[in-house]
Amino acid sequence: MIDIHSHILPEVDDGSKNAEQSFEMLNDAVNQGITDIILTPHYRVDYLNDGEKIRKKFADFKASVAERGINVSLYLGQEIFVFYDMAESLKSGKLLSLNDSKYVLVEFSPEYSMDIPETVYMIKTNGFIPIVAHLCRYHYADIETAREIKELGGLIQLNAGAFCDTWKRRRKAFGYIKEGLVDFIASDVHFGRDNNMEKAYRIVSKKFGTAVADKLFTENAERILNKQK
Ligand SMILES: [Fe+2]
Repeated sequence: MIDIHSHILPEVDDGSKNAEQSFEMLNDAVNQGITDIILTPHYRVDYLNDGEKIRKKFADFKASVAERGINVSLYLGQEIFVFYDMAESLKSGKLLSLNDSKYVLVEFSPEYSMDIPETVYMIKTNGFIPIVAHLCRYHYADIETAREIKELGGLIQLNAGAFCDTWKRRRKAFGYIKEGLVDFIASDVHFGRDNNMEKAYRIVSKKFGTAVADKLFTENAERILNKQK
Protein backbone atom coordinates (compact mmCIF):
# COMPACT_ATOMS: atom_id res chain seq x y z
CA MET A 1 0.00 0.00 0.00
CA ILE A 2 0.94 3.64 -0.48
CA ASP A 3 0.00 6.15 2.21
CA ILE A 4 -0.46 9.66 0.83
CA HIS A 5 -1.44 11.42 4.09
CA SER A 6 0.61 11.13 7.29
CA HIS A 7 2.00 13.23 10.14
CA ILE A 8 5.21 11.30 10.70
CA LEU A 9 7.84 14.00 10.12
CA PRO A 10 9.01 14.86 13.66
CA GLU A 11 8.74 18.23 15.44
CA VAL A 12 6.74 20.12 12.82
CA ASP A 13 3.12 19.62 13.86
CA ASP A 14 0.93 17.57 16.20
CA GLY A 15 2.01 14.30 14.55
CA SER A 16 5.28 13.40 16.25
CA LYS A 17 7.26 14.95 19.10
CA ASN A 18 10.59 13.32 18.23
CA ALA A 19 12.38 10.92 15.90
CA GLU A 20 11.71 7.93 18.18
CA GLN A 21 7.95 8.40 17.87
CA SER A 22 8.37 8.74 14.11
CA PHE A 23 10.42 5.53 13.84
CA GLU A 24 7.71 3.73 15.81
CA MET A 25 5.05 4.97 13.39
CA LEU A 26 7.15 3.92 10.39
CA ASN A 27 7.73 0.42 11.76
CA ASP A 28 4.01 0.09 12.37
CA ALA A 29 3.28 1.26 8.81
CA VAL A 30 5.70 -1.30 7.37
CA ASN A 31 4.00 -4.02 9.44
CA GLN A 32 0.66 -2.94 7.99
CA GLY A 33 1.99 -3.59 4.48
CA ILE A 34 2.81 -0.01 3.49
CA THR A 35 5.80 0.41 1.18
CA ASP A 36 5.66 4.12 0.34
CA ILE A 37 4.62 7.07 2.49
CA ILE A 38 4.16 10.73 1.68
CA LEU A 39 4.85 12.82 4.77
CA THR A 40 2.31 15.64 4.89
CA PRO A 41 2.93 18.07 7.77
CA HIS A 42 0.17 20.59 8.43
CA TYR A 43 0.22 24.08 7.03
CA ARG A 44 -2.34 26.10 8.98
CA VAL A 45 -2.42 28.97 11.50
CA ASP A 46 -1.01 26.89 14.35
CA TYR A 47 1.67 25.23 12.19
CA LEU A 48 3.03 27.69 9.67
CA ASN A 49 5.57 25.31 8.17
CA ASP A 50 7.00 26.80 5.05
CA GLY A 51 8.36 24.66 2.23
CA GLU A 52 12.02 25.40 2.73
CA LYS A 53 12.00 24.47 6.42
CA ILE A 54 10.09 21.26 5.73
CA ARG A 55 12.45 20.23 2.93
CA LYS A 56 15.45 20.55 5.23
CA LYS A 57 13.74 18.60 8.05
CA PHE A 58 12.72 15.94 5.56
CA ALA A 59 16.26 15.46 4.21
CA ASP A 60 17.62 14.99 7.74
CA PHE A 61 14.83 12.63 8.75
CA LYS A 62 15.15 10.54 5.59
CA ALA A 63 18.84 10.06 6.30
CA SER A 64 18.14 8.94 9.88
CA VAL A 65 15.49 6.48 8.68
CA ALA A 66 17.98 4.96 6.23
CA GLU A 67 20.52 4.73 9.06
CA ARG A 68 17.96 2.84 11.15
CA GLY A 69 17.45 0.43 8.26
CA ILE A 70 13.65 0.91 8.10
CA ASN A 71 12.56 -0.43 4.74
CA VAL A 72 10.13 2.18 3.42
CA SER A 73 10.27 4.84 0.71
CA LEU A 74 9.52 8.35 1.89
CA TYR A 75 8.27 11.36 -0.07
CA LEU A 76 7.38 14.87 0.97
CA GLY A 77 4.24 16.96 0.75
CA GLN A 78 1.99 19.07 2.94
CA GLU A 79 -1.59 19.12 4.14
CA ILE A 80 -2.66 22.68 3.52
CA PHE A 81 -5.58 24.34 5.26
CA VAL A 82 -7.00 26.26 2.32
CA PHE A 83 -6.70 30.02 2.06
CA TYR A 84 -7.39 32.59 -0.58
CA ASP A 85 -4.07 32.91 -2.43
CA MET A 86 -2.55 29.52 -1.63
CA ALA A 87 -1.97 28.85 -5.33
CA GLU A 88 0.56 31.69 -5.39
CA SER A 89 2.43 30.11 -2.47
CA LEU A 90 2.46 26.76 -4.24
CA LYS A 91 3.85 28.32 -7.40
CA SER A 92 6.61 30.14 -5.50
CA GLY A 93 7.58 27.02 -3.52
CA LYS A 94 6.56 28.49 -0.15
CA LEU A 95 4.10 25.61 0.07
CA LEU A 96 4.59 22.07 -1.17
CA SER A 97 2.51 19.86 -3.41
CA LEU A 98 2.72 16.07 -2.98
CA ASN A 99 6.12 14.81 -4.14
CA ASP A 100 6.55 17.95 -6.30
CA SER A 101 3.67 16.79 -8.52
CA LYS A 102 0.58 18.77 -9.49
CA TYR A 103 -1.39 17.05 -6.70
CA VAL A 104 -2.10 19.13 -3.59
CA LEU A 105 -3.57 17.78 -0.33
CA VAL A 106 -6.01 20.31 1.12
CA GLU A 107 -8.09 20.40 4.27
CA PHE A 108 -11.13 22.38 5.37
CA SER A 109 -12.68 23.23 8.71
CA PRO A 110 -14.43 20.35 10.47
CA GLU A 111 -16.37 22.94 12.51
CA TYR A 112 -17.69 25.70 10.29
CA SER A 113 -19.05 25.23 6.78
CA MET A 114 -16.77 26.10 3.88
CA ASP A 115 -17.41 26.05 0.15
CA ILE A 116 -15.32 23.04 -0.87
CA PRO A 117 -16.27 22.97 -4.59
CA GLU A 118 -15.47 26.69 -4.95
CA THR A 119 -11.97 26.08 -3.53
CA VAL A 120 -11.46 23.04 -5.74
CA TYR A 121 -12.32 25.20 -8.74
CA MET A 122 -9.84 27.92 -7.65
CA ILE A 123 -6.97 25.45 -7.21
CA LYS A 124 -7.75 23.64 -10.43
CA THR A 125 -7.79 26.84 -12.50
CA ASN A 126 -4.32 27.58 -11.12
CA GLY A 127 -2.99 24.37 -12.65
CA PHE A 128 -2.99 22.08 -9.60
CA ILE A 129 -5.06 18.99 -8.81
CA PRO A 130 -6.64 19.32 -5.36
CA ILE A 131 -7.13 16.24 -3.20
CA VAL A 132 -9.75 16.94 -0.53
CA ALA A 133 -8.45 15.34 2.69
CA HIS A 134 -10.73 13.19 4.86
CA LEU A 135 -14.06 14.23 3.34
CA CYS A 136 -15.98 12.29 6.03
CA ARG A 137 -14.81 14.81 8.63
CA TYR A 138 -16.86 17.66 7.19
CA HIS A 139 -20.42 17.52 8.54
CA TYR A 140 -21.50 19.95 5.80
CA ALA A 141 -20.27 17.69 2.97
CA ASP A 142 -22.40 14.93 1.47
CA ILE A 143 -22.69 12.87 -1.71
CA GLU A 144 -23.73 15.95 -3.68
CA THR A 145 -20.66 17.86 -2.50
CA ALA A 146 -18.51 14.89 -3.49
CA ARG A 147 -20.07 14.78 -6.96
CA GLU A 148 -19.42 18.49 -7.44
CA ILE A 149 -15.79 18.11 -6.33
CA LYS A 150 -15.27 15.33 -8.88
CA GLU A 151 -17.04 17.21 -11.67
CA LEU A 152 -14.71 20.15 -11.11
CA GLY A 153 -11.65 17.91 -11.39
CA GLY A 154 -10.91 17.50 -7.70
CA LEU A 155 -10.05 14.20 -6.03
CA ILE A 156 -11.23 12.74 -2.74
CA GLN A 157 -9.32 11.08 0.09
CA LEU A 158 -10.92 9.24 3.00
CA ASN A 159 -9.19 8.23 6.21
CA ALA A 160 -8.69 4.53 6.86
CA GLY A 161 -10.14 5.21 10.32
CA ALA A 162 -13.53 6.01 8.75
CA PHE A 163 -13.90 2.30 7.95
CA CYS A 164 -13.05 1.23 11.49
CA ASP A 165 -15.50 3.62 13.16
CA THR A 166 -19.16 3.41 14.22
CA TRP A 167 -21.56 1.73 11.83
CA LYS A 168 -23.15 5.08 10.93
CA ARG A 169 -19.81 6.63 9.94
CA ARG A 170 -18.71 3.51 8.15
CA ARG A 171 -21.91 3.52 6.11
CA LYS A 172 -21.26 7.11 4.98
CA ALA A 173 -17.73 6.18 3.87
CA PHE A 174 -19.06 3.10 2.03
CA GLY A 175 -21.61 5.32 0.28
CA TYR A 176 -18.86 7.45 -1.27
CA ILE A 177 -17.05 4.37 -2.57
CA LYS A 178 -20.25 2.81 -3.86
CA GLU A 179 -20.89 5.92 -5.95
CA GLY A 180 -17.34 5.77 -7.34
CA LEU A 181 -16.39 9.10 -5.76
CA VAL A 182 -13.31 8.08 -3.75
CA ASP A 183 -9.76 8.21 -5.10
CA PHE A 184 -7.54 7.50 -2.10
CA ILE A 185 -7.70 5.94 1.35
CA ALA A 186 -4.85 7.02 3.61
CA SER A 187 -3.93 6.81 7.29
CA ASP A 188 -3.63 10.48 8.38
CA VAL A 189 -1.58 8.90 11.15
CA HIS A 190 -0.40 10.87 14.21
CA PHE A 191 1.56 9.34 17.09
CA GLY A 192 -0.91 7.73 19.45
CA ARG A 193 -3.60 7.25 16.80
CA ASP A 194 -4.03 3.92 15.04
CA ASN A 195 -2.71 3.62 11.50
CA ASN A 196 -5.74 1.48 10.46
CA MET A 197 -4.61 0.87 6.86
CA GLU A 198 -4.42 -2.91 7.05
CA LYS A 199 -7.79 -3.22 8.76
CA ALA A 200 -9.46 -0.75 6.37
CA TYR A 201 -7.98 -2.59 3.36
CA ARG A 202 -9.53 -5.83 4.60
CA ILE A 203 -12.92 -4.19 5.19
CA VAL A 204 -12.99 -2.40 1.82
CA SER A 205 -11.84 -5.44 -0.17
CA LYS A 206 -14.42 -7.64 1.53
CA LYS A 207 -17.20 -5.23 0.61
CA PHE A 208 -16.08 -4.03 -2.84
CA GLY A 209 -13.49 -6.60 -3.98
CA THR A 210 -9.71 -6.42 -4.15
CA ALA A 211 -9.66 -4.61 -7.51
CA VAL A 212 -11.42 -1.60 -5.96
CA ALA A 213 -9.36 -1.77 -2.77
CA ASP A 214 -6.09 -1.95 -4.70
CA LYS A 215 -7.03 1.19 -6.63
CA LEU A 216 -7.85 3.14 -3.47
CA PHE A 217 -4.95 1.96 -1.32
CA THR A 218 -2.23 1.69 -3.97
CA GLU A 219 -2.76 2.19 -7.68
CA ASN A 220 -4.23 5.70 -7.75
CA ALA A 221 -1.44 6.88 -5.45
CA GLU A 222 1.17 5.53 -7.87
CA ARG A 223 0.18 8.35 -10.19
CA ILE A 224 1.29 10.86 -7.57
CA LEU A 225 4.62 9.13 -7.00
CA ASN A 226 5.15 9.00 -10.78
CA LYS A 227 3.97 12.62 -11.16
CA GLN A 228 1.36 11.56 -13.72
CA LYS A 229 -1.82 13.54 -14.24
FE1 LIG B 1 -3.91 15.19 8.36
